[in-house]
Amino acid sequence: MKIALANDHTAVEYKKEIIDWLKEQGWEVLDLGTNETASTDYPVWGEKAALAVVNGEADFGIGICGTGLGISLACNKVRGIRACVCSEPYTAHYSRAHNNCNIICFGSRLVGPEMAKMILKEFLTTPFEGGRHARRVNMIMDIEERYR
Ligand code: RB5
Repeated sequence: MKIALANDHTAVEYKKEIIDWLKEQGWEVLDLGTNETASTDYPVWGEKAALAVVNGEADFGIGICGTGLGISLACNKVRGIRACVCSEPYTAHYSRAHNNCNIICFGSRLVGPEMAKMILKEFLTTPFEGGRHARRVNMIMDIEERYR
């Protein structure tokens, strides 16, 4: 399974530990940057993660900025993306089980690397339950279609 990871300048060092851990777990990682510590704009990186997922280059995406919020908002502007911000594993679990999220975001300034790994483990190993949740997720995607 391939994971696309994109981040802004707040997470250049931080994401290295995350990438090493993802690889140890057996996930293939597509590092989309940034790898520069100069200030940069999180929408650029959110769009890159989102495109990698909708174009099928990756199964799931990870977005990291200072809070996780800005990059998640950018990801969610791309058709077909359901990105969530998580700071603990419970939400990460249900973001997959009930919401079928395809990108997870978190804040490098809020979530330590060990918590990030727990969040990612939950997100990347939990299947979508389907059933009534599929109907609700389809309703979300219908909203996207109505306002394109
Ligand atoms: C950068 O300072 C910060 O605004 C950004 O990383 C992110 O937290 C935005 O949502």
